[in-house]
Amino acid sequence: MNLKGRDFLTLKDFTKEEILYLLDLAAQYKEKKKRGIPTDTAHGKNIALIFEKTSTRTRCAFEVAAHDLGIGTTYLDPSASQIGKKESIADTARVLTRMYEGIEYRGFGQKIVEELARYADVPVWNGLTNEYHPTQMLADMLTIREHFGKLEGLKLVYLGDARYNMGNSYMVTCAKLGMNFVACAPENYFPDAALIGECERYAEESSGTITLTENITVGTRDADVICTDVWVSMGEPDEVWEERIRDLTPYKVTKDVMENAGSRAVFLHCLPSFHDLGTGIGKEIYEKYGIEDMEVTDEVFESPESLVFDEAENRMHTIKAVIAATMGMV
Ligand code: CP
Ligand code: NVA
Repeated sequence: MNLKGRDFLTLKDFTKEEILYLLDLAAQYKEKKKRGIPTDTAHGKNIALIFEKTSTRTRCAFEVAAHDLGIGTTYLDPSASQIGKKESIADTARVLTRMYEGIEYRGFGQKIVEELARYADVPVWNGLTNEYHPTQMLADMLTIREHFGKLEGLKLVYLGDARYNMGNSYMVTCAKLGMNFVACAPENYFPDAALIGECERYAEESSGTITLTENITVGTRDADVICTDVWVSMGEPDEVWEERIRDLTPYKVTKDVMENAGSRAVFLHCLPSFHDLGTGIGKEIYEKYGIEDMEVTDEVFESPESLVFDEAENRMHTIKAVIAATMGMV
């Protein structure tokens, strides 16, 4: 398997074998990290980390992964770069290519990261766009595989806004890997029809399935993995909170949802999550709407079935695999 020079923009661009290869590589890096075996063979290389939206996990994962590989990093925060405001994406890509061996981009439309990749001569990694969050998918799949020992044939149910980066990405990933994907949401929160069509074709090839349903009991029954995400994503206006709370409250992950899924089911969330009043936004929403949690109850979030912190850790190991593979270090 040779992924040297490849961009990592969406898992639509990768085969099942390539995705599994990255998971295997991540598992090897994880094992080495746990045993204290050094992996810092890339001295003299540097990568740029562009963040036009905020981040905890993705930024830390890229920085630690790069450091562990011996790679230097430059972090460009949402306010500190010229990108898009004073300098075009095309010019930025060509400048950064002259200094760096790889570029991470977190921001808005997928088209922006695609344009960056088109003009850059080094690998470009998508650290989240409105449409996709592919590095998160590798972390989730590694976490699921660690728990169940396999991926193929598992039923993964995503509850919430399935039109956005997490819902879209789960559908793509499950379809590629022969898993049974269910989006459980009001109909107007289902993924885009064209993407559904594309994923149906992947699923045909992998023997996976795609189901879209408004029915929570049917949708989550016998699920292996229950996933959700925040109801309002970064970059969306505050005005949408009201409609999201109204439309998506029935799709909150509660103990009843987990019980309906069955005793094997585990819970995943990319984080950050509104499961208690420990956040500024959580408190504001409580004051306005009187609700103490949103997409998941604190009971489920803190339960033994919740693998969210393994999932967060796996961001680093999987991002390390993506950097190493696409920079030709393995
Ligand atoms: N899951 C995730 O992408 O987290 P951050 O927004 O903190 O990077
Ligand atoms: N859908 C969320 C994911 C955060 C990791 C967002 O885009 O804000």
